[in-house]
Amino acid sequence: MRILVTGGAGFIGSNFVHLIMATNPGVEVTVLDAFTYAGERASLAGLQSSVHIVDGDVTDPATVDRLVGRSDAVVHFAAESHNDNSLAEPWPFVHTNLVGTFTLLEAVRRHDVRYHHVSTDEVYGDLALDDPARFSETTPYNPSSPYSSTKAGSDLLVRAWVRSFGVRATISNCSNNYGPRQHVEKFIPRQITNIIDGVRPKLYGDGLNVRDWIHVDDHNRAVWSILEHGRIGETYLIGADGERNNKDVVERILVAMGKDAADYDHVTDRAGHDRRYAIDSAKLRHELGWRPWFGDFDKGLMDTIDWYRANESWWRPQKAAAEQRYKHQDVVV
Ligand code: NAD
Ligand code: DAU
Repeated sequence: MRILVTGGAGFIGSNFVHLIMATNPGVEVTVLDAFTYAGERASLAGLQSSVHIVDGDVTDPATVDRLVGRSDAVVHFAAESHNDNSLAEPWPFVHTNLVGTFTLLEAVRRHDVRYHHVSTDEVYGDLALDDPARFSETTPYNPSSPYSSTKAGSDLLVRAWVRSFGVRATISNCSNNYGPRQHVEKFIPRQITNIIDGVRPKLYGDGLNVRDWIHVDDHNRAVWSILEHGRIGETYLIGADGERNNKDVVERILVAMGKDAADYDHVTDRAGHDRRYAIDSAKLRHELGWRPWFGDFDKGLMDTIDWYRANESWWRPQKAAAEQRYKHQDVVV
């Protein structure tokens, strides 16, 4: 099988490529990545000889057509992925997430190639802290941010291309991932690398916002399972029952790194900040037999901390620029 992995130099995409190369040596992988600020060649270190890496844009029809035409399946991870950036400058999100998905859909339609669309639980909006509900495949779309609205729009394009043109596609919507090779702009790596630098972690608002954490390898094993065994036209939610509020997570990181649990600051809240995400992954578990392997969040967090400690050369070049983008938000409240 020949797979085209878009965004394969990003956080989840690069971990997907490492996982597939380790577990399915017969699979041929081509990575299509524009190497934006979020794409890192170093994330594919050790795989260069076995993976074909193309520096190109998912919105470029000629490049996409050429690569899709010689693939058996496409797994589409490439996206502008960070909510805070989407609030500062929405256009790249509209372009990559909507036009990029459209471009891929047209190519897989022309070549009749299997397509898996990687999306987010944020398309469903948010839940109240005291609401017992969780998101499921039938929850209505209600995105809050420029990022999540473009991901919602891209999901709807996929559904329309399945129904109108018979494209062989599946969609997955996953909750917050953690693990190695995540950009330092994101919550967990930002706080770990701040602590390494002697800077106090920054918690938006009251810090009680809840995210449903899942290890990136559990997400990627689910994506692989859906690609192999998912029903065409179906959506699967991916989550590992990992609900925690941000305050709890930052305190765990501080303690794990030998600091006082109270050694952080509350800063200006994110505009439109979603309160709570929670995933019901019963469909994925019952239909495809998927189960998370990383049940111990503290251990997963400790391994992630160790990875950032051991791989400073990977994240250091990005750190100052990422912190610069946060300057307007870093007002202690
Ligand atoms: P990331 O920002 O770490 O990586 C995105 C990758 O896409 C980068 O390598 C970047 O260079 C590439 N890219 C961006 N624009 C491109 C373009 N126009 N053409 C080609 N490549 C381009 O993102 P991530 O956190 O790894 O997320 C990957 C996917 O998973 C996204 O679709 C995101 O919406 C989805 N997702 C993420 C999470 C999470 O917790 N991070 C959870 C659920 C779903
Ligand atoms: O739910 C899935 C989504 O998870 C993905 O679709 C997105 O691509 C991914 O970025 C992530 O979105 P979030 O906005 O939830 O993740 P982020 O890491 O930016 O923030 C996690 C939580 O931590 C959120 O409530 C905001 C808060 N936060 C974030 C940063 C960077 C802080 O309190 N302080 C911070 O410095």
